[in-house]
Amino acid sequence: MNEQLQQNLKQMEISKFQNDLVQWFIREQRDLPWRKDSDPYKIWVSEIMLQQTRVDTVIPYYERFLEKFPTIEAFADADDESVLKIWEGLGYYSRVRNLHSAVKEVVSQYNGKVPNTLKDISKLKGVGPYTAGAVLSIAYGVPEPAVDGNVMRVLSRILLIYEDIAKQSTRKIFEDAVREIIDRDHPSYFNQALMELGALICTPTSPSCLLCPVREHCIAFSVGAEKDLPIKTRKKSTKHVDLIAAVLKTDNGKYLIRKRPSKGLLANLWEFPMVEDGNFMQMRTALTNYLEKEIKVNTQLETGTFTKVDHVFSHLTWAINVFAGTVSGDIKLEDNYLLVTKEELEEYAFPVSHQTIWKTYKEKYHL
Ligand code: ADE
Repeated sequence: MNEQLQQNLKQMEISKFQNDLVQWFIREQRDLPWRKDSDPYKIWVSEIMLQQTRVDTVIPYYERFLEKFPTIEAFADADDESVLKIWEGLGYYSRVRNLHSAVKEVVSQYNGKVPNTLKDISKLKGVGPYTAGAVLSIAYGVPEPAVDGNVMRVLSRILLIYEDIAKQSTRKIFEDAVREIIDRDHPSYFNQALMELGALICTPTSPSCLLCPVREHCIAFSVGAEKDLPIKTRKKSTKHVDLIAAVLKTDNGKYLIRKRPSKGLLANLWEFPMVEDGNFMQMRTALTNYLEKEIKVNTQLETGTFTKVDHVFSHLTWAINVFAGTVSGDIKLEDNYLLVTKEELEEYAFPVSHQTIWKTYKEKYHL
């Protein structure tokens, strides 16, 4: 921590700040489903879902998830396919794969009780400093920092911190600051209040300073720098990939799908056969050749594509040209390929882009 920050912390009226912040949270907090009880399992699920995903998007997923897996044991017992299916559309699927492994570990090693120490909880898969701090403080009242991007934005303003929040190493500076100012009597409220302030008042581009409960503690406000903070360098531009996919039907009405590899982007999700467009041959030829080589099937594709689907990931965009067609012959499938009925297909977890392909296909072909 640099000297300027230490100075700023020293000059802060910490207990008044804590009180203003926590009282505001008690009055103004949103009614969110994970605030209804403090079961550490439920808090954990919510905090994993809320990473990289907006509250409004998370709510229905959270409710469905807990309806299906109401206890930590129920989730530990779930099969991998149903775990991915319930996460379908939320993105960043490694979150749920890690959560599932970690939950199994808690059931087998900790008798189903989520660890309540930083040391033990941090050993669990997918539990980094943010998740550890959030679960410990919210579920167990342990005064640990829970610093995510929103909290960094809020604190960069209150404490006038000019470190680049896009840099990995910066989070630690904020965690050290939180250790100095956290309300040790109400760590759950304190951490949630910082998140809530970031969501409702101290927003990225036009913070509502005039409504802010801690405005009088905010150095950025006092010097007029609230819109200059946080400092966040732009990340590298995203890569663009063109792809060709096909919805392929057999003459007895089944569809060809395949499972993605167990590592990498969208690991273990299902998709329609797809290949990168190398631009060295016609799209239809590229795809038929690929399938012939890969799984020795004969495909007949319609002349034109029936849809084009774009999908933006955090680091990459996909543009998928999609054909409809048929597969024929004596189909011997490799083990990551399957032929399924329309009803069966919908039981598998697909990436959003391929859900869109299927939805469009059903509309165009009147299924
Ligand atoms: N973002 C991350 N954790 C949150 C929580 N517990 N409530 C609201 N927004 C959040």
